[in-house]
Amino acid sequence: MNLEERLAAAQRTIAALMRRVEQQAASGETAFSVLEQNIALEHVIAEKTRELEARRRELLQAQKLESVGRLASGIAHEINTPVQFVNDNVQFLQLAFGDLVGLFEKHRQLRDAAATGQVSPELLREVDEAERAADLGYLLEHVPKAVARSVEGLERVATIVRSLKEFAHPEGKERGEADLNRALASTLTVARNEYRYVAKVETDYGELPAVWCFLSELNQVFLNVIVNAAHAIEEARRGEGELGLIRVVTRRDGDSVKISVSDTGTGMSPAIQERIFDPFFTTKEVGKGTGQGLAIARTVVVDKHGGTLTFDSAVGRGTTFHIRIPIGSTAR
Ligand SMILES: Nc1ncnc2c1ncn2[C@@H]1O[C@H](COP(=O)(O)OP(=O)(O)OP(=O)(O)O)[C@@H](O)[C@H]1O
Ligand SMILES: [Mg+2]
Repeated sequence: MNLEERLAAAQRTIAALMRRVEQQAASGETAFSVLEQNIALEHVIAEKTRELEARRRELLQAQKLESVGRLASGIAHEINTPVQFVNDNVQFLQLAFGDLVGLFEKHRQLRDAAATGQVSPELLREVDEAERAADLGYLLEHVPKAVARSVEGLERVATIVRSLKEFAHPEGKERGEADLNRALASTLTVARNEYRYVAKVETDYGELPAVWCFLSELNQVFLNVIVNAAHAIEEARRGEGELGLIRVVTRRDGDSVKISVSDTGTGMSPAIQERIFDPFFTTKEVGKGTGQGLAIARTVVVDKHGGTLTFDSAVGRGTTFHIRIPIGSTAR
């Protein structure tokens, strides 16, 4: 049985047990035996509830693994681009250095000749020749640029790797203080390949206090909302027209932090809006979505963090998801 079926089975068991309690209460058994049975059933229900919670955790873990897996090929692509770029620049530097070594060698001969006072016109001509061959003017202009571009490319790779590390393994599994602006930035870096061909991203990070939270779970929520936005834009564009826009805004609001993610995608009809938090509800084709993202997001935001997860949506205009997380205790 897969997780989905096991969850459904556990829910059916609880419903059946509840029905039995009600039937027994109605069937006129002695108050004492009903009480006894109720106590026994409460134990069973508590046990089943614990099982359900464990299943939910498994599902969350499974989805996390799946999303990291899916992101991996996109990330390989993201890393490959700057690596290619650094490679081209370093190859140029290698050639340039070879030319400079040749030139330097001629200059050395010239210095030795000058020291003995015997600089032949032939040697001067050779030095000239070497300078021309090396295209010294060109090298002086382009070597520093190639070095700067290589450093840039390597920084880009380092950012991607750091983001992936922060995304996949934020310090520990326990609750901790986190900088949610930074978490959003890492998530956007990690997910870039998911949206770069369909949308531009605009960010407006307000000043936020550290938030007491389960960061790796919030990262999953951010990822899902961002990927959903990209999918909605992709669907709306159907490969044509200008890129869409994903806008991420963060603000402190009293004792909470508000994060909003807007997209210029398809928007949702009222019928779809009613169901988006249902586990396994999806409008996407097989392989693109399993319909767990928002169900899990709601568990994480509402049940685990005492926050809220809401949205505004208009068909043909787009959707904004609002995530509100209480800043929480900063005492450890
Ligand atoms: N930003 C959005 N714009 C339009 N529709 C959306 C948006 N976000 C979610 N939806 C709708 O809600 C449905 C459920 O979203 P959810 O994230 O729970 O699952 P999914 O994206 O289909 O699959 P999964 O997240 O498991 O890969 C989507 O299939 C889509 O129809
Ligand atoms: Mg989703």
